[in-house]
Amino acid sequence: MITPSTIEQIKSRLDIIDVVGEFVKLKKRGSNYLGNCPFHNEKTPSFTVSPAKELYKCFGCGKSGNTITFVMEHEKLSYVEALRWLAARYNIEVEETQVSNEQKQLIQVADSLYIINSFAAKFFDNQLFNTEDGQAIAMSYLKQRGFREEILKKFQIGYNPAQRDTLAKELIGNQFNRELLPRTGLVAVRNETELVDNYRGRIIFPIHSNSGKIIGFGARVIGKAEKAPKYINTPENELYSKSKILYGSYFARQAIDKQDECLLVEGYTDVVSLHQAGIENVVASGGTSLTIDQLRLVKKYTSNLTIIYDGDSAGIKAALRGLDMALEEGLNVKLVLIPDNEDPDSYVNKVGTAAFQQFIANNKKDFILFQLEVMLKDAGTDLTKKNTLVNQIAETISKINKAEDFTKQQEYIKQCAALLKIDEAGLITLVNKIKRDKVAKEDKKLSLDELNNQLTTDQQETSTLDDTSFLISADEKQEQNIIRVLLDFGLNQFTETETVAEYIFAGLQDFPFENPQLEQLLERYKTEYRQGLEPSTKTFLYSEDKETRELVIAITLFPYELSSNWDKLYVGKTITNQDNSHQDVLTSMNYYKLCKLKKMFKQNQIDLEKATKEEATLLIKIHFDLQKMVKEITKEGGTVILK
Ligand code: UTP
Ligand code: MN
Repeated sequence: MITPSTIEQIKSRLDIIDVVGEFVKLKKRGSNYLGNCPFHNEKTPSFTVSPAKELYKCFGCGKSGNTITFVMEHEKLSYVEALRWLAARYNIEVEETQVSNEQKQLIQVADSLYIINSFAAKFFDNQLFNTEDGQAIAMSYLKQRGFREEILKKFQIGYNPAQRDTLAKELIGNQFNRELLPRTGLVAVRNETELVDNYRGRIIFPIHSNSGKIIGFGARVIGKAEKAPKYINTPENELYSKSKILYGSYFARQAIDKQDECLLVEGYTDVVSLHQAGIENVVASGGTSLTIDQLRLVKKYTSNLTIIYDGDSAGIKAALRGLDMALEEGLNVKLVLIPDNEDPDSYVNKVGTAAFQQFIANNKKDFILFQLEVMLKDAGTDLTKKNTLVNQIAETISKINKAEDFTKQQEYIKQCAALLKIDEAGLITLVNKIKRDKVAKEDKKLSLDELNNQLTTDQQETSTLDDTSFLISADEKQEQNIIRVLLDFGLNQFTETETVAEYIFAGLQDFPFENPQLEQLLERYKTEYRQGLEPSTKTFLYSEDKETRELVIAITLFPYELSSNWDKLYVGKTITNQDNSHQDVLTSMNYYKLCKLKKMFKQNQIDLEKATKEEATLLIKIHFDLQKMVKEITKEGGTVILK
């Protein structure tokens, strides 16, 4: 862990123009800088950097963030890695802290699981190689399938005896923590206290992390799986997260790097058999659809991914599902189908290494074209289906986004148009439209102006409609606006005795936030404020969690412009935020309170209609109280029309 003071030091040295400028040629344009976006392909610059706000935003692709997120995104680093990158750049010495208790515990659990796993792996290995049962039951099966001892040793393959608790006893005898043992998945609790083996009578495939640690196991029945599942795998725990690993990656890394290609198969045995055949650039997915983490793992070593599945495998569909993501990651995806009910393991055993390699080389299909062929076959002569298909393929092609892949995209459009027997220009238009819509959607998420426009429309609508659901969303926008003034001006003096933050805290006491996410942000601000940490837009933008960052960007990125509709509310007083922060805070708070009051009025009215006589007296009193509050606020803020 990096110490807070080092992080502070790094942040204080950050210069967004300097950092972004290293990758993007920037030109000054007013108070901002402009350049070609490094995240998508463009000819006219739409990538804007604001040194004052320490933010960037691309109006082409919608990407936005701060200096640290820029380094994360551009260099494909984690938050902590980005900090280290920046520290190195500015020659800042990185101090490491003790980790928090919670993290310590997590690491301790992970370490313990790892120790148990490696103990178990040795046990399994010994069972396979040095016991009678291991030899008679497991080794004979493996030999019969063509696995040789040296490859079994390399992958640390083993055997768990068929008896009830051989491993469990061994683990307990070696003083491993009983509480922790079931988390490994190696043993299970029976009758509340008894520990029994989970992988009884199974061949064990240890699963290694990228650095070679055993983080889990796959346990296969011997022979045909009739009643029990063929494989039992380690459950998700502090060490093992299925979506982040590819079986065999530790043994394949160097070969993948050297050959600039990663072969992806479905099963454990496929990986082991191919290695035995001398084909080492191979990993397995376990037959499920690929996750973004797995694709990034591949991308670390190569951009060329070749998926080798058996022809009738249900896994193909699963594999195809994840592949649009591969395109976004800039991976080149090819597909090879193994014929005749074979899988890579059985096929390489049948035809040998050279023929296998030849087959792969000759039968690589482009993923997009393959997908299209499959879907075309599916659609047949059905026009509606074909229409959907055109849209789907356009969607897929639109995901090829990286600058260097532009020509590839053009090539796909040409080939797909030919396959679909449609006009090429039409497909180009469709792909471009999808891209534009996506950008617009992203922008909408980010743009506060958009939200504000929405606000005034919502307000107008609600004043004529008897539907309180509209009011809720308008409320949230007001809550966002309060967060904005708080982050921008919270530390300023509001009166001689009170800061803006204190004024807002007091004002919110009677009118609490409703949106839980914004409430959480507010609470966090309060805590930091009270600890003297001087929270602000900047400190919140450097939050470690992405959600907060994105929310704060959405709230504060662009200068807030009070919509012209405010004139209608504050007759005679047009307020713009260039004026001063005091006025901004005042109107923001007053408007916020009025929105809440208006809603209370409405609710009160609804209640009144259903109220008994006794209840009515109280509700009428509330009505006048609310009215009094409105008067007080409007006296302060000008004349308000509250419909
Ligand atoms: P397969 O059924 O193709 O098995 O499942 P396989 O790998 O070819 O194994 P052999 O050759 O029959 O011995 C492919 C992969 O799907 C996962 C495993 O990772 C397996 O290697 N799988 C399959 C499970 O996790 N559980 C199962 O019950 C079956
Ligand atoms: Mn198989």
